[in-house]
Amino acid sequence: NRGSLWGGRFASGPSPELAALSRSTHFDWALAPYDIAGSHAHATALERAGYLSSDEALRMHAGLDALAAAVSEGRLLPAPDDEDVHGALEQALIAEVGAELGGKLRAGRSRNDQIATLVRLYLLDHSRTIAREIVRLIDAIVAQAEAHPDAAMPGRTHLQHAQPVLLAHHLQAHAWPLVRDLERLRDWTARARVSPYGGGALAGSTLGLDPQLVADELGLERPAENSIDGTAARDVVAEFAFITAMIGVDLSRFAEEIILWNTREFGFVTLDDGYSTGSSIMPQKKNPDIAELARGKSGRLIGNLSGLMATLKGLPLAYNRDLQEDKEPVFDSVATLELVLPAFAGMVATLRFDTARMAELAPQGFSLATDVAEWLVKRGLPFREAHEVSGALVQACETRGIELDEAGDELLAEVSPALTPDVREVLSVAGSVASRDGIGGTAPVRVAEQRADLVGRTQSL
Ligand code: ARG
Repeated sequence: NRGSLWGGRFASGPSPELAALSRSTHFDWALAPYDIAGSHAHATALERAGYLSSDEALRMHAGLDALAAAVSEGRLLPAPDDEDVHGALEQALIAEVGAELGGKLRAGRSRNDQIATLVRLYLLDHSRTIAREIVRLIDAIVAQAEAHPDAAMPGRTHLQHAQPVLLAHHLQAHAWPLVRDLERLRDWTARARVSPYGGGALAGSTLGLDPQLVADELGLERPAENSIDGTAARDVVAEFAFITAMIGVDLSRFAEEIILWNTREFGFVTLDDGYSTGSSIMPQKKNPDIAELARGKSGRLIGNLSGLMATLKGLPLAYNRDLQEDKEPVFDSVATLELVLPAFAGMVATLRFDTARMAELAPQGFSLATDVAEWLVKRGLPFREAHEVSGALVQACETRGIELDEAGDELLAEVSPALTPDVREVLSVAGSVASRDGIGGTAPVRVAEQRADLVGRTQSL
C-alpha cells in the first residue's frame, strides 16, 4: 500500500472491504487546499522549534506551493488506494520533495488535530460565501419593498384574512429572519475560529511546537484550550449545520408563500420566465420550481443536522472514526445553499406583483373589523363591548352578503347607536394601514424607517 500513513505494525495491508469502507478521498479532497495551508503553518512551527533547517523549510514551502497549484488546476487527484486527503497529500509531497524531507512534516501532528482544524477552515470560508448570497437575497427583498411602498395586501393569520398590511411590510418580514441568520453566522465565527492544531492525536505533543503560530498562520484566533476537546468536539460543525438548516427553513416559509401567491386562486405574483419552469405535457404550465426546490431542500438541510447530531450523541472522548461522518452532511448543506440562494434571490428580484388584485382583496373577509373595534375604543367604549359591536356588524354584513364599508347608516345604527356614520373614516385599507403607526407597525412611514434599519443592519454584518 503506497500511501498508508500507518503500516508499521501491520503484517498485511487493509483488506479490500476495509479499504473501500475507510476511504474518504471522494469527499475530503475538498479539504486539500486547507490541508496544504495547515502544512505550511505546521512547517513554519517545525522550523521555529528547530526540527527543520531554514533550507528545508524553504524547500518544504516550495513543495507545498507546487501541490497547491496542482490541486487547484486539477492535475493532482487522490489515487484509488489513498485512504484520505492527508495520506494522498503526504504521498504527493514525498514525490515532490523526496522521502527524507517529505517524511518530516508529520512530526507533532495527527490527522485528528488536522481534520478538526481543516473542517473549521472549510466552513469559515463557505460561511462567507453563504453570507454574501444571503445579503444578495435581502437586497432583492428590499428592492421589491422599495418598488411597492404603498401597495396593500391581505395580512393573514391561520391563513385567513386578518388585517390589511403593506406588501413591503410583509416582504420585509421575510428579510428579518435572514438578517438574524447572518448574525448567527457571525456569532458562530467566534467559536469556529479556534485551532485544534497542536492537539495531536488527543494529548498534545512533546515537541514544543507553537500552536498560536499555527493558529495565526491559518487566520484563526487562538489554539484550542484542551487537546481532547479540540480533537473530539464537533459542536462547531453541528452549530453550522443548524444555521444552514435554519436558513433553509426561513427560505422554505417564504417559498411556500410564493407558491401560494403564484396560484390562480391567489394570483398575487407572476414569476419571470427565467425563474420558472414548464411542463413536459401541459403546454400552459409555468411552475414555481425554485420555490419548491428551496422548500424541498430545507428537509435535506434539517436531515443533515439531525444525522450529525445522531452521530455525535453517543461518542466517548476523544477521537473516534465516527467523526469522519461529520463532513458529508455539512459539505452537502453548503453545496445545497450555494445552489439555492442565488436562484432564490433571482426569483425574488424578478417577481411581478399584481398590486391591484392584492389591494382589492385586502379589505375583503371583514379584515377592517379590528379597526372598527379600535375606533369605538377611541370613543370611550371598553374593548370587550367594542369587540362585540364590531362582531355584530360583521355578522349583519355577512348575512346580507356585503362588506363592512357597504353598510348603510341605518344598518350601522341598527347594530349599535355607537356606530355613527363617521366610522367610515377607518373603513379604508389605506386608513387602516396608516393608523398602525407604532414601532414595528405596518404604516408606510414605519415600514420605510424599518427598511432603512434593515439595510443598515445588513450592511454592518
Ligand atoms: N478521515 C478522518 C476524519 O475525517 C481523519 C483521520 C483520522 N483517522 C484516524 N484513524 N485517526 O475524521
